[in-house]
Amino acid sequence: MRIGLYPGSFDPITLGHKDIITRALSLVDKLVVGVGVSATKKPLFNVEERIAMIEEELASAAKKAGVELSVLSFDGLLVDVAQKHKASLIVRGLRSGTDFEYEAQMTAMNRKMNKDIETVFLASTPEVGFISSTLVRQISAMGGDVSPFVSPYVKKLMEKK
Ligand code: PNS
Repeated sequence: MRIGLYPGSFDPITLGHKDIITRALSLVDKLVVGVGVSATKKPLFNVEERIAMIEEELASAAKKAGVELSVLSFDGLLVDVAQKHKASLIVRGLRSGTDFEYEAQMTAMNRKMNKDIETVFLASTPEVGFISSTLVRQISAMGGDVSPFVSPYVKKLMEKK
């Protein structure tokens, strides 16, 4: 059974995350989506809200793909979370060359810490490859329309905040 870990802050989950997660479903039998607790210091959505949001957004796609989906929070090293959940793959999305520089460094250091865990990069689909949760939060806080960047469900939750 191939288990993948897709980590992130997901504050909130965007169409960019959904692109990567949906495509990652074809690579694994089980996908663990890990919500990093300490990655965002002052989150808009707390961890429980982020987990509920991800489950709502992805449960049906996972079911359709026949992949077990587990959404959980983590606080600590990525390699430790991967090992704990028996994940042999860490999935990360790449939007740009800037992402690559940072991700390549993390991947190399993670591999030094645990050589049995492989990181797989998926290049973002161009239509959603520019989206950042940080900018989505900023646009929302300033009264802008976030519908090109998040699902209608997440948009509603952001409006409530
Ligand atoms: O949403 P992001 O910013 O892409 O998510 C970042 C996250 C949570 C994946 C990152 O902060 C992370 O990997 N945290 C775990 C800490 C860790 O393992 N650090 C060492 C990496 S070499």
